[in-house]
Amino acid sequence: MASNCIHVLFLWLSFCVALADNIDIFLDEIISPPNSSTEYSSSWVSSSGQFEFGFYHHGDGYAIGIWLKGGDGSKTVVWTAKRDDPPISSNSTLELTVDGLLLKQGSDVQGQVYVDTEPAGSASMLDSGNFVIYAQEGSSIVWQSFHHPTDTILGGQNLTIRNQLVSSISTSDRSTGHHFLAFQRDDNLVAYPINSSAESPDAYWSSNNLYQQEVEQLSLDTKGNLCFDDAFQCLVNNTNHQNQPHNTSSIYRATLDVDGNLRLYEHLFEDKEGSNITNLWQALSDECQIKGFCGINSYCSNTSGTARCQCYPGFIPSNNHTTGSNAMFLECKLNYSKDDCETSGDRNFLLYNIVSLEEMQWDGYPYWAKPMSMRACDKSCKTDCDCGAALYTNGQCSKYSLPLRYGRKAPNESDTGMALFKVPSGYVIRGNTTTSSPKNPNAIVNNRKGLILILASTLGSISFLCVLFVVSIFFTYRSQVHRFTKLSASSNLGFTEECSLRSFSFDELVKATSGFTEEVGRGSFGAVYRGTIGENNRRIAVKRMEKIADEGEREFRAEITAIARTHHRNLVKLLGFCIEGSRKLLVYEYVSNGSLANLLFKTKKHLPLKERLKIALDVARGVQYLHEECEVCIIHCNLKPQNILMDELLTAKISDFGLARLSKPEFSRNRADKEVTTGYLAPEWQKELLVSIKADVFSYGIVLLEIVCRRRNIELDVPSSEEVLLSSWAYHCFATEQLHNLVSYEEEDMDWKTLERMLKVGLLCVQDDPSLRPSMRNVILMLEGWKDIPIPPSLRT
Ligand SMILES: *[C@@H]1O[C@H](CO)[C@@H](O)[C@H](O)[C@H]1NC(C)=O
Ligand SMILES: *[C@@H]1O[C@H](CO)[C@@H](O)[C@H](O)[C@H]1NC(C)=O
Ligand SMILES: *[C@@H]1O[C@H](CO)[C@@H](O)[C@H](O)[C@H]1NC(C)=O
Ligand SMILES: *[C@@H]1O[C@H](CO)[C@@H](O)[C@H](O)[C@H]1NC(C)=O
Ligand SMILES: *[C@@H]1O[C@H](CO)[C@@H](O)[C@H](O)[C@H]1NC(C)=O
Ligand SMILES: *[C@@H]1O[C@H](CO)[C@@H](O)[C@H](O)[C@H]1NC(C)=O
Ligand SMILES: *[C@@H]1O[C@H](CO)[C@@H](O)[C@H](O)[C@H]1NC(C)=O
Ligand SMILES: *[C@@H]1O[C@H](CO)[C@@H](O)[C@H](O)[C@H]1NC(C)=O
Ligand SMILES: *[C@@H]1O[C@H](CO)[C@@H](O)[C@H](O)[C@H]1NC(C)=O
Ligand SMILES: *[C@@H]1O[C@H](CO)[C@@H](O)[C@H](O)[C@H]1NC(C)=O
Ligand SMILES: *[C@@H]1O[C@H](CO)[C@@H](O)[C@H](O)[C@H]1NC(C)=O
Ligand SMILES: *[C@@H]1O[C@H](CO)[C@@H](O)[C@H](O)[C@H]1NC(C)=O
Repeated sequence: MASNCIHVLFLWLSFCVALADNIDIFLDEIISPPNSSTEYSSSWVSSSGQFEFGFYHHGDGYAIGIWLKGGDGSKTVVWTAKRDDPPISSNSTLELTVDGLLLKQGSDVQGQVYVDTEPAGSASMLDSGNFVIYAQEGSSIVWQSFHHPTDTILGGQNLTIRNQLVSSISTSDRSTGHHFLAFQRDDNLVAYPINSSAESPDAYWSSNNLYQQEVEQLSLDTKGNLCFDDAFQCLVNNTNHQNQPHNTSSIYRATLDVDGNLRLYEHLFEDKEGSNITNLWQALSDECQIKGFCGINSYCSNTSGTARCQCYPGFIPSNNHTTGSNAMFLECKLNYSKDDCETSGDRNFLLYNIVSLEEMQWDGYPYWAKPMSMRACDKSCKTDCDCGAALYTNGQCSKYSLPLRYGRKAPNESDTGMALFKVPSGYVIRGNTTTSSPKNPNAIVNNRKGLILILASTLGSISFLCVLFVVSIFFTYRSQVHRFTKLSASSNLGFTEECSLRSFSFDELVKATSGFTEEVGRGSFGAVYRGTIGENNRRIAVKRMEKIADEGEREFRAEITAIARTHHRNLVKLLGFCIEGSRKLLVYEYVSNGSLANLLFKTKKHLPLKERLKIALDVARGVQYLHEECEVCIIHCNLKPQNILMDELLTAKISDFGLARLSKPEFSRNRADKEVTTGYLAPEWQKELLVSIKADVFSYGIVLLEIVCRRRNIELDVPSSEEVLLSSWAYHCFATEQLHNLVSYEEEDMDWKTLERMLKVGLLCVQDDPSLRPSMRNVILMLEGWKDIPIPPSLRT
């Protein structure tokens, strides 16, 4: 009882203290925008006079926000309420009521600045720039602007794992812009373009946190230090602060600027008179490194010290990018029609010329890549209507379809290449494609003569650097894939194991797997065991090849060298092998998250359609690589969810490829019998016809349908017999437009368009006639939405 009284007394006291210290806005207080007759505008001002809460000009009306006043009358907006709402008209008012801050027109309530359940009692604009609302009872804070940052954090404010910074469209329009910065699953603070998939290929900056402990927040203190939890690691240690003259004071802010760069600013006040803004730190020194600085089909170049977006040759601007000389967010489109290409069947290379740009790079996957001469690359793109542009690097020709993303001219970086663009013959390249010194023109209209010239001048140096590049490119690629994720020991492979296949002795593997005790799976060829090797206990998976033909060692070695030559993020990597007499074992990287079958059918893990589309694309890219990009085309022959493995980031990796030719003839027939019953094998298998890569497309189609519907291809425990076989049931639902029958689980905001797209692609892939099935390349284009999907013909049932 007594302690209760003391408690109440304490609360009351602290309430009084709070009243005396902070509160300057009481219930029923009103502010309004400047009205037409006078420039008078009311706002709530902090006691220092530096921060104001009120209406500021936005579009043809006003927005509500907090700004920092400069001595020269300038306003730096640091927070905006409901930033994406339309401008507020000038006859509105903002009133503090028990229900919070209400936006009113006359007596009509138009909106509420914050939503909270507790009744509000008073509010205050603090000197830190934090606007706080106190509860009616007691002194607790029911709402504060510091907990809802927009694009800025101020000294004393924290960016936590629950919120993010989102850049503004422009310095005058504070609505949601083009980039965001947020904590990622692995505790890194990472910046992405706003509408990207927010996966590592889209990231352009990361805090690269070094320590293992969980990170809770990024804090900016009032001395200008920008640090993670308890200054364990800092982005900025502001040592200047100590040496500041006594008659000055500083306010710091960290802002995700319009261009997507995180910068720390200091506003220096001399006796609260005037202010100087200095940029103390920025995340990236070169704006061209910011993905999404330029829009689609445009590229960034920073050759004269300012970053600038330009359309590729043959393209013209398609949006109203922000004004200003750097053309930020410029998007471009082709200035000619692709139809001519499709109708003419141009075999004589008359339709297009190739224009090239040096030292280019962009993101995304080529749909096709092969080593060849530049002339052949040039020809190959000219005659391919899907080819939007080609990138020629180190003797490798990679063709890309449009749109091109994150293009960038990177003069001093190693992983760049010669970009080739098609322009119609007779087309005059206008505008400023040449930007560097005239000695080294970037754009060369590429007739035969020009081509020879380029070949002579560049191939020599390229081939000289070739060996070096192949190695470095591969490592850059690997490090990019994993760049923004904490690496587990197993994926952090050393140099020697990366470059060549290692030969293990049987005893070594017995030791590594503790005598083959921990079986993690049983594939078509034998059991798979978990083990560890090396000083840092790298995790491996050892496959004992039991059911393989008694071929000589040479054939076995030939097969596994072909497998070892594959390098793709969606394929499980072969690390080594062991051959001792009849014992044959393969050593793979260990992929930690089980199989796709397990993920889809066994776990209850919620997998939004978007995530499943990503998995489907991962698998498609792996298969496409096997079909089109390896030195020797590899037909998987046994694609199914059981041998698609998932890593810790749920990236799908195909395993068991390249082994088909090692299987015993009778075994493969047995297998065929067995597998037919589960339906992954193409009909031509059963008829013992020639098996082509289209057999894999069939299996992929089944896997895709399983991913879409999240059920097995054959399921007996179903309400009606027509639902037993997934492919025919899916076709039935598609034909009768009853897609909802295919998804038995709950999903909010189901994206039916995407679901239908995936379904149509799946149905095309499982056609009986192999020639009706699309290539894996087209599967990817269709899934990504860049190619129209034909109506799938009906299936034989
Ligand atoms: C302008 O706003 C002020 C303060 O709200 C008010 O006193 C004044 O009457 C307004 N003038 C007009 C023309 O609305
Ligand atoms: C405020 O202005 C809008 C147009 O700007 C008008 O439609 C509305 O009726 C006005 N409301 C009041 C209460 O004057
Ligand atoms: C920011 O974090 C610090 C340390 O965790 C905490 O003391 C402080 O109250 C936080 N600031 C706000 C505004 O929540
Ligand atoms: C992001 O997507 C939304 C919704 O599709 C769109 O309104 C917005 O303009 C896009 N933003 C950018 C920067 O492309
Ligand atoms: C910044 O300060 C923290 C702790 O105060 C320290 O651990 C860290 O090493 C400093 N970083 C730099 C770059 O000086
Ligand atoms: C602030 O102090 C510096 C020297 O420490 C002096 O030169 C300057 O005039 C002072 N400014 C004001 C406004 O007093
Ligand atoms: C602001 O910077 C300018 C030039 O750097 C300098 O002349 C001026 O004194 C500074 N003003 C303040 C308030 O520090
Ligand atoms: C251009 O690149 C140089 C060197 O990387 C860098 O110092 C400079 O800040 C960049 N300019 C812009 C505007 O990003
Ligand atoms: C760009 O803006 C102008 C007027 O501001 C408008 O007429 C034009 O249609 C816009 N163009 C595009 C591509 O949005
Ligand atoms: C590239 O490197 C050269 C020489 O090392 C240097 O002169 C040039 O400024 C660099 N260019 C950029 C954009 O960094
Ligand atoms: C776009 O194409 C038209 C017709 O071919 C041509 O006149 C125009 O110059 C081209 N625009 C640019 C920017 O190249
Ligand atoms: C190309 O850009 C340079 C420098 O930005 C400029 O001086 C020149 O006039 C431009 N040429 C054309 C054709 O726009």
